[in-house]
Amino acid sequence: MVVLKSAAELATMREAGRVVAQILAAVSAAAKPDATLLELDDLARELLSEKGAKSSFLHYHPSFAPIPYPAVLCLSVNDAIVHGIPDARRLEEGDLLSIDFGAHIDGYHGDSAVTVGIGPIDEAAQRLSDVGRQALEAGIAAAVPGNRLGDISYAVQSVCRAAKYGMPTGYGGHGVGTAMHEDPHVPNEGRPGRGLTLRPGLALAIEPMVVESGSDRHRLQRDGWTVSTVDGSRAAHWEHTIAVTDDGPVILTAP
Ligand code: MF3
Ligand code: CO
Repeated sequence: MVVLKSAAELATMREAGRVVAQILAAVSAAAKPDATLLELDDLARELLSEKGAKSSFLHYHPSFAPIPYPAVLCLSVNDAIVHGIPDARRLEEGDLLSIDFGAHIDGYHGDSAVTVGIGPIDEAAQRLSDVGRQALEAGIAAAVPGNRLGDISYAVQSVCRAAKYGMPTGYGGHGVGTAMHEDPHVPNEGRPGRGLTLRPGLALAIEPMVVESGSDRHRLQRDGWTVSTVDGSRAAHWEHTIAVTDDGPVILTAP
């Protein structure tokens, strides 16, 4: 069931989204060579309690997962695409790190992700990340009243495919509100002019994922959460929670 949000609900989601943006920025700044993934998760936990918000991810237990999610961040390094669980791994110069973070205030969620380089990164990694971000921007620009869900999907897909990148089959974004994952599913590929008509009050997480080699294949690691490329090539992931409004798309997870 797709639930439209009132202006008051969107205002609370904006508060949650601002906290998400602030914490993502702090974690991005701390993501340096020699930092461990668990240190970054600890930082996000401290900032959450400082800001009076709660994690959307911690203990989240969808039916596909063997264990509840054990952290507040998803940290996906290099060939990990999404849902990497923070561990004692130390970041190294040249790594490509996706940082995904969600928080709720008064029960309203925000969900956002960025991809950052650890120290200097090679040109191919920078381009991969840039294209992921551009795909997100294109998807957001298509989120206007009267457009259809397929217009968002098509916008995302067009940017990724023009760059010859892979897109993990079946993955995409989702509605956001009083749950982190609500209807509708927002595919990263689709046909323009098809699907749900976008109306003011619709809140969506749009989240393109791109794979450097061009492969769409992915596999689940033994931890039951981490989704990785099959060929070992690198991936980037960008995400914002946005609202469809009469004035156009509003990025709820903007700083
Ligand atoms: N942005 C990710 C998603 O929508 C967040 C997953 S959180 C987790 O899939 F807890 F499920 F890992
Ligand atoms: Co999401």
